[in-house]
Amino acid sequence: MNKENEQKSVEGFSLTAKLFHWGFILIFSYGILKQIDNINQLEDLALLKFEIIFALLFILFLIIRFIYMKRTQKSSLPPDTTKFQKAAAKLVHYGMYVTMISIALSGLVIGFLYWLGLKSGLLIETIIFWHESSVSIVYWLIGLHLLGAVYHWIKNDGVWESMVPILNRNRE
Ligand code: HEM
Ligand code: HEM
Repeated sequence: MNKENEQKSVEGFSLTAKLFHWGFILIFSYGILKQIDNINQLEDLALLKFEIIFALLFILFLIIRFIYMKRTQKSSLPPDTTKFQKAAAKLVHYGMYVTMISIALSGLVIGFLYWLGLKSGLLIETIIFWHESSVSIVYWLIGLHLLGAVYHWIKNDGVWESMVPILNRNRE
């Protein structure tokens, strides 16, 4: 096998890894769609409880996914990828995990403070700022991640195919 072929024989992620990746996107989209527009909505105790349970499950899912990915999977970046590019991909991947957890954690703190009766004031406003900033940062990181994925699709090096089931290219 010549060097070029070797580089292109990239193994895909396991089915479980793909289910984690795409399943998580569904859960995250649901979280964004049902987002709270106004803190007064938390007056509804059922909604407050639901938000808290959702945020806890969201964190649990992220932790299980992270452990599974770390223990069993490897990035599909070809071996000749530059150190800079490897570091950039890692930074964006870890960044997404950290910011996602930050969204849910700040949400939990909001819920806790609200439940304690702290419904307005500097403290809760600061936590809401933390919550909303985390959301903005994750949008930027997802944007960078998508750009990276499209770059690999154009480069046709197998990284796209290792995770994405559609628009697969023929690498002959
Ligand atoms: C349509 C949109 C998306 C495409 C095409 C896509 C594509 C990919 C590809 C090709 C990889 C493999 C990269 C490698 O081998 O190093 C990957 C990994 C990854 N993706 Fe995505 N992705 C998308 C959306 C997302 C979103 C929305 C998130 C976060 C919410 C995300 C989080 C991750 C993470 C954290 C990894 C690293 C592996 C892991 O730990 O799970 N992706 N993605
Ligand atoms: C993983 C779980 C969560 C996700 C994905 C999420 C998502 C979001 C999003 C996208 C926004 C809008 C941000 C913006 O407009 O910039 C938001 C705002 C907010 N969220 Fe969450 N959230 C989560 C958990 C929680 C929890 C547990 C609580 C409280 C019980 C909470 C309370 C709020 C509040 C009070 C706002 C601000 C509303 C306002 O602008 O006054 N969130 N959330």
